[in-house]
Amino acid sequence: MALASFTGRDTFDPVPSKATLEALEVRAVTDSPDGVTLGVIVESDGPLPDSSPLGWDGLRSVGFEGKPGQTVPLPLSDGGRLLLIGSSGDDAANLRDDAASFSRATAQVSELAFQLPGKLDAAVEAQMIVEGAAMARYRFDALKREPSVAPINELSLVSADTEAVDIGSARGIAMAEATCIARDLANTPPALLTATQMADVAKRLAEERGLEIEVFDKDALVEMGCGGMLGVNAGSTEPPQMIKLTYEPEADGTGTITLVGKGIMYDAGGLALKPADPVHAAMKNDMSGAGAILGAMANLTRLGVENRVIGYLCCTDNRPSGSAIAMGDVLTIRGGTTVEVANTDAEGRLVMADGLVLATEEPTDAIVDIATLTGAAMRALGTEIAQVMGNDDDLVAQVEAAAANVDEPVWKFPLAHRYRKQLNSTVADIKNLGGANAGSITAGLFLEEFVAGKPWAHIDIAGVADNETDASWRPPGCTGFGARLLVDLVANFRPTHH
Ligand code: BES
Ligand code: MN
Ligand code: ZN
Repeated sequence: MALASFTGRDTFDPVPSKATLEALEVRAVTDSPDGVTLGVIVESDGPLPDSSPLGWDGLRSVGFEGKPGQTVPLPLSDGGRLLLIGSSGDDAANLRDDAASFSRATAQVSELAFQLPGKLDAAVEAQMIVEGAAMARYRFDALKREPSVAPINELSLVSADTEAVDIGSARGIAMAEATCIARDLANTPPALLTATQMADVAKRLAEERGLEIEVFDKDALVEMGCGGMLGVNAGSTEPPQMIKLTYEPEADGTGTITLVGKGIMYDAGGLALKPADPVHAAMKNDMSGAGAILGAMANLTRLGVENRVIGYLCCTDNRPSGSAIAMGDVLTIRGGTTVEVANTDAEGRLVMADGLVLATEEPTDAIVDIATLTGAAMRALGTEIAQVMGNDDDLVAQVEAAAANVDEPVWKFPLAHRYRKQLNSTVADIKNLGGANAGSITAGLFLEEFVAGKPWAHIDIAGVADNETDASWRPPGCTGFGARLLVDLVANFRPTHH
């Protein structure tokens, strides 16, 4: 597919991080190599490495107190540098943060070493260090004349247990890549990532990473009766794509989990055109759910995940034009449910409805959807915590556990059926918008209509998909939130007693 002529480009790689992380070589070593920058975590007034040219008095005199996140570079006699990092605590998440501080403090350095603190399992420590260092170094520089950071080419992890370090660092690279692919896809502007290009990326990743893929184009979607996808797409010159990915584990796992992602390549609002305030320039990220699934699924083979995973990415943009759907139009979702379009800007739930119905049609033990669905989720929980709801408390608890493992926080909201009447329509089975309040809950209730009573959880990432602040392993821009959460979820998934 050719790119729009105004982009001034013939080609664009929407996942540049993949190559960057494939070029990253992580080595397990028992001694730090000469001449590199070695990161060592220290506690305030705690023991210092023998090689430190300064003691605590000297360190304090240059302003380093060992506070969380603080760093200080010191010259070493071998020509390298020692970078002391103030410990932020003893948990795995703290180590990920400390490695991120190290990576930021060395942003223009490509050859690094890091001393494992030796407080947790060595494989876990290696994984956290790689994740934190790689994710903190991420910048979406693909469209800039000059890159803003240097890539990490070599990272030596210093530990006696080199075998465990190798295992953990492989996991860390896969996890970091899942997030960075999701970030790349969300950061890529809409003209450089249409639904068709998204399908092309998915095909490339599927082939390279051992996934099965099937792409349903516009004709197929007509045939399949996917009226949600087709209705949202009606105003666009770019065709829709429903992308189905399947991961078949080598070993027999305990179950099958189906993921459904919102893939609105750009959300202009449709005929309910969004005003031109900054949040709407961010609507290139309205495919973050689909991107998180693609980033996650691209890494399941090399992580040796033992459950079967199916993914549906519901991709189209949402634009106004003479052919766009109008308020008051009625769409027929796959399976026959009719929906009154009360607002064309509540489009995510329309495409997700088709994806959820497809998810119910094949045997699966659980369905988990992820979507930048509602401004209301952002109002309720801000930009650091995602919302989760569902019809199965055990499944929601598994989402909460995965979120805690990867430090991508979620908070459970009630799927309150007393609000379902807000979605009653006089002309159709349901309408796509409730009242002014509890908007993320009514969106969840809308989705629930399409899961046929199967165990289901819904993650609303509208608030967390974008990040203006710049902290730890979370640089500004699209966050890739959900990619690592989904990897952890499907890796540890066990069927619920629904
Ligand atoms: N993609 C948006 C939700 C969104 C809002 C994501 C802010 C990220 C940041 C969704 O499609 C949408 O437009 N929701 C509207 C619906 C309303 C206008 C009916 C909303 O929640 O404001
Ligand atoms: Mn919208
Ligand atoms: Zn949207």
